[in-house]
Amino acid sequence: MSHGVKRLGVLGAGQMGGGIAQIAAVSGIEVVVFDAFPGMIDKCKGVHKKSLGKFVEKGKMAQADADAALARVSYVQSLEQLTGCDWIVEAVVEDVAVKKDLFGKLSAMYPDESVVLATNTSSISITEIATAAGKSAGRVVGMHFFNPVPLMQLVEVIPGLQTSPGVVQRTVALATAMGKTPLEASDRAGFISNRVLMPMINEAFYAWMEGVAKPEAIDGIMKLGCNFPMGPLTLADFIGLDTCVNIMNVLADGLNNDRYRACPLLKQLVTAGRMGVKSGRGVYEYPGK
Ligand SMILES: NC(=O)c1ccc[n+]([C@@H]2O[C@H](COP(=O)([O-])OP(=O)(O)OC[C@H]3O[C@@H](n4cnc5c(N)ncnc54)[C@H](O)[C@@H]3O)[C@@H](O)[C@H]2O)c1
Repeated sequence: MSHGVKRLGVLGAGQMGGGIAQIAAVSGIEVVVFDAFPGMIDKCKGVHKKSLGKFVEKGKMAQADADAALARVSYVQSLEQLTGCDWIVEAVVEDVAVKKDLFGKLSAMYPDESVVLATNTSSISITEIATAAGKSAGRVVGMHFFNPVPLMQLVEVIPGLQTSPGVVQRTVALATAMGKTPLEASDRAGFISNRVLMPMINEAFYAWMEGVAKPEAIDGIMKLGCNFPMGPLTLADFIGLDTCVNIMNVLADGLNNDRYRACPLLKQLVTAGRMGVKSGRGVYEYPGK
């Protein structure tokens, strides 16, 4: 099946939105990126140049292809400017109210139901986000990329209860055309990836908080003992500690079980502004970020 996408709209120019825009442009799709915060657009432009430059430096991409990909991306600072898209991927903050507000606006802006409205949410119910699209809830689907998007192979495809089978097939086709491997999961809080991963990360924060070991030892033990490419605390820094808290909240509420509550130390770091790599400090320090 063909995905039929010529112009992709991306909502959110953060870590994930920026990455999704980049791989779409590399795969030949025209992309328009929207972010509500002007500083994020400038940052995203810089990240695109730097990331594509690295692929060229390593001999993985020709300079002409990197230039062509960059030329396919445009950036806008108001939702009204996100016009002419035939597919939209939302990648804004992991907050159900913010996402539903945007899906309500998008379904009004795009009455043509062939325009798919996908969300990159890590954990929020697709069925619930889809309710914001009213009668056209069948075109809402979970399209969950992984960080860093240009390097990670998986796209978790999550149909909500309302999602039409044709939309799921087109999502699989689009993810494949972007060079990814799509795998399907049901719409339960956290789907598969975060339901399994995030409680382990949360437990690592508890172990640190209780003084069972220092962060370096926790990460080292999990890397060397479990053959993980990076330890859980380092991974949390890459994901963003704020995103980790939000995902734990969704698991606790969605699965109706207090064992998924975010560790107090994890929440405290977020309160102190230590979000991880993106803010320059989380569990560890990242000078220059
Ligand atoms: N970080 C990860 O590892 C990861 C992996 C998979 C999925 N996700 C999901 O992707 C989404 C984005 O995560 P991220 O890590 O890119 O976060 P981020 O904080 O890097 O980026 C979020 C972006 O959304 C923008 N934004 C916030 N509210 C907005 C609004 N109302 N309209 C437009 N833009 C708005 C912010 O300015 C920011 O640029 C979340 O739903 C997250 O759960 C994250």
